[in-house]
Amino acid sequence: MSTNTTSAYSDFHLQFIAGEWQTGKDDSTNTNTNPYNGDTLVEIQQATKDQLNEAYDAATQAQEAWAKQTPAARAAVLYKVVNILDQRQEEIVDWLIKESGSTRIKAMVEFGATRAITLEAATFPNRVHGEIRPSNTPGKENFIYREPIGVVAVISPWNFPLHLTQRSIAPALALGNAVVLKPASDTPVTGGLLLAKVFEEAGLPKGLLNVVVGSGSEIGDAIVEHKAPSLVSFTGSTSVGKHIGELANGGEYIKQVALELGGNSPFVVLKDADIEQAVRAAAFGKFLHQGQICIAINRVIVEDEIYDDFVERFLAHVKTLNVGDPNKQDTAVGPIINEKQVKSLKEKIAKAQEEGAKMILSGEIDGQVVPPHIFTEVTREMDLSRNEVFGPLVGIIRAKDEDDALSIANDSMYGLSSAVFTADMQKGLRFARGIRAGMTHINDISVNDESNTPFGGEKNSGIGRFNGEWVLEEFTRTHWISMQNEPREYPF
Ligand code: TAP
Repeated sequence: MSTNTTSAYSDFHLQFIAGEWQTGKDDSTNTNTNPYNGDTLVEIQQATKDQLNEAYDAATQAQEAWAKQTPAARAAVLYKVVNILDQRQEEIVDWLIKESGSTRIKAMVEFGATRAITLEAATFPNRVHGEIRPSNTPGKENFIYREPIGVVAVISPWNFPLHLTQRSIAPALALGNAVVLKPASDTPVTGGLLLAKVFEEAGLPKGLLNVVVGSGSEIGDAIVEHKAPSLVSFTGSTSVGKHIGELANGGEYIKQVALELGGNSPFVVLKDADIEQAVRAAAFGKFLHQGQICIAINRVIVEDEIYDDFVERFLAHVKTLNVGDPNKQDTAVGPIINEKQVKSLKEKIAKAQEEGAKMILSGEIDGQVVPPHIFTEVTREMDLSRNEVFGPLVGIIRAKDEDDALSIANDSMYGLSSAVFTADMQKGLRFARGIRAGMTHINDISVNDESNTPFGGEKNSGIGRFNGEWVLEEFTRTHWISMQNEPREYPF
């Protein structure tokens, strides 16, 4: 499946606008580096606002004809994309490792999720459907149409760049929309340009997918405020997401927003749980991609009776994880994306100690590689519990009992994912239903994403849902059309 007979994609120093690869016209350059060894991968001259306008014009023009294409024609492009992903699997995984610091394990997980959502999206053109509703007005028929929403602006993050971009652009395109995408500055290739190459090779008509590489602080507002997009699909931090929500609803043009923001996932281990299984799950769900996942375990909450046992076994297991070169097959913890994030983790380590948490595992920070850090006797008030860590640091909180565990789990302004371990499935279900979050997994990690189940959060974790029919609704508009078949009597 992964045999690659085609030549590798190149020319990632160019922007993809209106179906052409063109040089950015801004004075500034994005120097894209490997977070593990600092190698420069590509230098990209950034896009100007004029180029952004050009992208929106092209998208607006191309969208009309695309929406009129048959469902089969749109599906065919998506199926072709799946084929190309398969052919180029090794090349794509290699880019994920070198550009985003993904370990090989994480890169394969991300590749799989990207492939799955593309395959799911290929079914969308034939799954979108309208309705006929009865009318209380004599002689009237009510039709509810689902139409493409038009042009969609997509702004994506650096942590799962390929997947978190594709899960917006594949459904958007499948449903007859056009896209202007801004990838994160840390991952312009895997978050955008690479996918543009794949869609181009798959025969997507020009102008439907535009990738504009530029800094969020420079062109971000212009992307959101532009007249063209009817929907802004943003995945990233809560602070930037709030700003985008304000712009989208308080500017000259009102538009819909889909916001996938930060998380603070609780991972609860109740006293009857299989501790060994919970330990393995906690390690994977916390340290996959160095903890830089919005649905990563952020708080481990363990019932008092088994707390010490859990901590001892968790510590022993985490000590066995290999840390360092993400390219090595058996590396579990690779590098942090950039120096700014490393600095923020150093501050969090210092703060946890200041606040009285007990650091039972640490290690030397080498360049951008931060080894796992474990803190015990963490309380719900501490920074480690209150805020998203986004790194390989974990705090373990002691809960008095099940009720206390639920109260701690819900004590957060986020509500994205969550998990509970117990031997009693009924108890697990009751507990899960008590959690205010978009997603809860019983006897598994908080890190789950399936292309046919609703992915998204509540509270400060955002609004909207991805995947399956939920994203199908998100990326279409509803149009009620009524037909008065006989003259209606009006009161005057
Ligand atoms: P952000 O700093 O929010 O960046 C996300 C994207 O927004 C990037 O493309 C960024 O561009 C862009 N951006 C920055 N400022 C902007 C502005 N003023 N207007 C428009 N766009 C702007 O987040 P990050 O550091 O990439 O990712 C980490 C955070 O994202 C974490 O909090 C994490 O939980 C969250 N996240 C959430 C999810 C889901 S699914 N909920 C998934 C991944 C990440 P530049 O890179 O050019 O600054």
